[in-house]
Amino acid sequence: MKIKFLDLGDQPIANRFLTTDNVTDEFFYNLSVGFDNDTKLVTHMEYVDPPLMFNENYVYRGSMSTTMQNHFKQFSSRFSPDLKILEIGSNDGVFIKNWNKSTAIAVEPCKNFAEETTALGYTTYNEFWTIELAEDIKEKHGQQNIIFAANCICHIPDLDNTFKAVSNLLTHDGVFIFEDPSLAEMINNGSYDQIYDEHPHIFSVIALDNILQRNGLEIVRVENLSVHGGSNRIYAKKIGTSEIDESVEQNKAYEKILGVDNIETFIRFAQKVKQSRDDLIRILFKCKEEGKKVISYGATSKSTTVFNYCGIDQSLIEYVSDTTPEKQNKLTPGSHIPVMFKDKIEDDVDYVYLGAWNFLNEIKEKESDFVKRGGKFITHVPIVKFD
Ligand code: TMP
Repeated sequence: MKIKFLDLGDQPIANRFLTTDNVTDEFFYNLSVGFDNDTKLVTHMEYVDPPLMFNENYVYRGSMSTTMQNHFKQFSSRFSPDLKILEIGSNDGVFIKNWNKSTAIAVEPCKNFAEETTALGYTTYNEFWTIELAEDIKEKHGQQNIIFAANCICHIPDLDNTFKAVSNLLTHDGVFIFEDPSLAEMINNGSYDQIYDEHPHIFSVIALDNILQRNGLEIVRVENLSVHGGSNRIYAKKIGTSEIDESVEQNKAYEKILGVDNIETFIRFAQKVKQSRDDLIRILFKCKEEGKKVISYGATSKSTTVFNYCGIDQSLIEYVSDTTPEKQNKLTPGSHIPVMFKDKIEDDVDYVYLGAWNFLNEIKEKESDFVKRGGKFITHVPIVKFD
């Protein structure tokens, strides 16, 4: 049974950037989060219908950050390129382009990106991941040695269907490897903005193993990653086919200390979220009173949650700078702040709210002039402060 612990208010589709034509027909839903006492899963109370988010207009490009490009390149180099691999949620090909075109298979529901990986030469299925699709792929291409997904499994409401489909398509000793933001890190960082329409679940290792096991899979290894504000890379195999690495128990023991299996932890987390909102609004109003120019860096899905939950609009943040062409010259969802691209932070900017706080190092390196002249970033992670 799900118990609600957090209400982030009315939220729009996090990646639906607006033009002046569609600014009036915006879809909003209530973003409330609950804790499932049976599986220990942290999950939305109601799920947004996936085609509303993942369609031919989807704008999030994984390859916009060199951190992520290097991350996938390094990981792929650990494996033999001859293995049969399928990627669920291949986006613009940032991961799969490190693999062999004749064997790697991409699955991507967003048509614009499916067309890009097809053009690169990869067999691409422009569909949502389901048991039926896995069955179809098995018939055409046979079972797969590796099924991989990055920042995708936590997007899928029906985890049982997802894991059954994976189990059916894996070879007997095949491995399912997937990485998503970590619930433990969300608690440590106070990063409630990991929660938005596309992230119906924020995973703990404990909850994932509970749900994988009821679908014939078990976690055999966990790697803690720094990307996306702290993620876990999960290795799962068919139950009983492999030894279990000590990292699994270590992660579960750590999560138990944090209390991720206990609703009380999330009730306390919700109180911290309210505090974070009050502190951020206070800082931004102070900047406004003092006549400072504040902009935001990275038109992220995460900042859609923050801006709409905190009621931040153009009166507090003048514009958002983002490198993604599909987001530029549009308005941010719900908060309607203009998005544009600036090569570097302009000289008259006093403060920069870090929508893309998870790329702090990459951004500080790029914006060394701003840092040198004493420019400050504003972040809410792990607490609201100037950075
Ligand atoms: P993400 O946090 O969901 O990965 O989104 C990061 C967004 O920030 C994406 O739209 C690209 C943008 N971005 C910049 O505009 N400049 C940068 O230097 C980096 C690293 C990201």
